[in-house]
Amino acid sequence: MLFTLEKIALRLYMAGLKTTTAILPFRWPTVFQGPGSSHQLLLYIQQQESGSLLLITDASLRQLGVLDAVVSQLDNLGLNYQVFDQITPDPTNEQIEAGYQALQAAGASALLAIGGGSVIDAAKLIGARAKNKKSVLNMTGLLRVWRGILPLYVIPTTAGTGSEATIAAIVSDPVQQRKLPLIDVRLLPKAAALDAKLMLGLPASITASTGMDALTHAIEAYLSRNATRQTDQQALMAAQCIFKYLPIAFAQGKDIEARQQMASAAHLAGKAFTVAGVGYIHAIAHNFGARYHVPHGLANAIVMPYVLTFSKPACLKRMATLARHCELAAATSSDQVAADALVERIRAMNQDFQIPDTLKTLRQEDIPAIAKAARAEARFTYAVPRYLSQQQAEQLIARLLPLPDDSSHAQPSHHDGC
Ligand SMILES: NC(=O)c1ccc[n+]([C@@H]2O[C@H](COP(=O)([O-])OP(=O)(O)OC[C@H]3O[C@@H](n4cnc5c(N)ncnc54)[C@H](O)[C@@H]3O)[C@@H](O)[C@H]2O)c1
Ligand SMILES: [Fe+2]
Repeated sequence: MLFTLEKIALRLYMAGLKTTTAILPFRWPTVFQGPGSSHQLLLYIQQQESGSLLLITDASLRQLGVLDAVVSQLDNLGLNYQVFDQITPDPTNEQIEAGYQALQAAGASALLAIGGGSVIDAAKLIGARAKNKKSVLNMTGLLRVWRGILPLYVIPTTAGTGSEATIAAIVSDPVQQRKLPLIDVRLLPKAAALDAKLMLGLPASITASTGMDALTHAIEAYLSRNATRQTDQQALMAAQCIFKYLPIAFAQGKDIEARQQMASAAHLAGKAFTVAGVGYIHAIAHNFGARYHVPHGLANAIVMPYVLTFSKPACLKRMATLARHCELAAATSSDQVAADALVERIRAMNQDFQIPDTLKTLRQEDIPAIAKAARAEARFTYAVPRYLSQQQAEQLIARLLPLPDDSSHAQPSHHDGC
C-alpha cells in the first residue's frame, strides 16, 4: 500500500518535471559533423574568442597522439592555449580544483575539451567552478549552476556519453563512493565537433562499452514516461544506428563510416536523454562505478538486460516498437516476441563484445545499500516505466552476482588491450 502511494506521488512529481523541462531554455551547441570537422570548430572558436583557451584532456590521450592533429591546427591558426591533462576516468573534485588553478595560471577565458565523457564533464565542472566561484560539490543536483559556465567547446573522442549535448556533469566522490550529478541547462557547451578521425584508435573494449552507454541512453530515453515526440525520434534513430554500426566499429576500428555514425548516434542519444531522462540501468550502473570503479558504459551494458526484463510488463509496446524499428524483429511479430528480441539482441552483443553477464566485484553484503542508493537516485530524477521496490531492486541486483565457480569471467576494464 505504501509502495502504491509512493508510486502515485512519484508519477505526479514526474509529470511536473516533464512540464518544467518543456519550458527550460535549452541552448543546444552548434555542431560540426564529419571526419576532419574539428578544424571547422577551431575556425569557429577563432571567431568567437579573443582570449586564451585552456585545453582540457587526459594524459593517455596525449601520449597516444590522439590530440596531435588538433594541436598542430591550433598552432597554425595562432590560437593561444595551455594544456591541462590531469583528468582521469570519473573525475574528482580535486581534479576540478587543480584544473581551476591551471585555468587561473593560464589566464584563460574559454575551455576546449578533447576527450571522452570524463574529460568533457571535467571541463563543464571547471567552467562552472570558475564562473560560480564555489566548489562544484556545492552545485550538485538540479539547476544550481546559477552563473553558468565559461564558454566551452568540445571534441569527443569516444562515441558514448553524448556529454557534448547534455545538461549533466558527474563528479566522483571516492571517499563516500558516490557519483554526484550536476544537472543544469547552463552546462551545455557552446559548440562541438563530432569528428570520427579522433576515434579511429579507440580500443575495441572501450568502443564496445562506450557504445553500449549510448545505446542505454537511447533505450532509457525511449522508455521514459517523460519522452516527447522529438526525443522518441532521436532515440529511435540513435538506437537503429548503434545496432547497425557498433558491431562494425568494434570489429573494424578504422572503419571511418562506422565511427562517424556512432559519433552522431551517441550525440542524438545524448540529446534524447537530456530531455527524457534515463532510468534504473543508469541508477544501478552509477553505483557500480562509484563503489567498484566499473567503467560507466560497461556497467550499463551488464545491467541493461536485467532492468529491461523487469520493466517489460510496463512498457511492452514501446520495447516492441523499438525492436521492430531497429529490425531486430519482424514487422508482423507480436509485442512479446519483439520485446524479447530486443533483450536477446543486447545479450548477444554483450557476448560478442566479451562483456560478462555478471559483475565479478559485486558483493552480496553491498546489495541492500546499492539497491537503496539506486532507488534514491531514480526517485525524483527518472520517469522510469516501472518502479522497483527495495525487495525487487535487491533481487534484481542479486542476479548479477558471479556464480561461485565464475573464474572464467575476468572482468574487462578500460585498460584491457589498450
Ligand atoms: N555528462 C553526461 O551527460 C554523462 C553521461 C554519461 C556518462 N557520463 C560520465 O562520463 C564518464 C565516462 O566517459 P566515457 O565513457 O566517454 O569514458 P572516459 O572519458 O572515462 O574514457 C575512458 C578511457 O578511454 C580513453 N580514451 C578516450 N578516447 C580515446 C581514444 N580516442 N583513443 C584511445 N583511448 C581513448 C581515455 O583515455 C580513458 O582511459 C563517466 O564519468 C560517466 O559518469 C557523463
Ligand atoms: Fe550514460
